[in-house]
Amino acid sequence: TNLIKGKLQMTNINPETLANDEGAVITIKGERKGAYKDKDGQLHIVDTTCTHVGCEVEWNNGDRSWDCPCHGSRFSYTGEVLEGPAEKPLQKYDYKMIDNLTSEDS
Ligand code: FES
Repeated sequence: TNLIKGKLQMTNINPETLANDEGAVITIKGERKGAYKDKDGQLHIVDTTCTHVGCEVEWNNGDRSWDCPCHGSRFSYTGEVLEGPAEKPLQKYDYKMIDNLTSEDS
């Protein structure tokens, strides 16, 4: 993932400051995550690493989905696969448990 690090758009925002029905790529403890706050104000946090071969998904505000630029996989805001070739959902995080996130690489 280091190869594409330079072009990643990371925003150090608190996901709680997202408006309802707004999604963004954010960093939590230095890690790239995807956050979407639904219309009821509930946060949905996913890992932005595509489960196909590891590209970084981007937020699609029109469809409220996470779309992968590499081979076209698409995921719902809860991380479920909408379109392949990915077969596994994005990793999800419980925002209340986010303090327990550990760094996966480094
Ligand atoms: Fe995302 Fe292939 S890495 S579709």
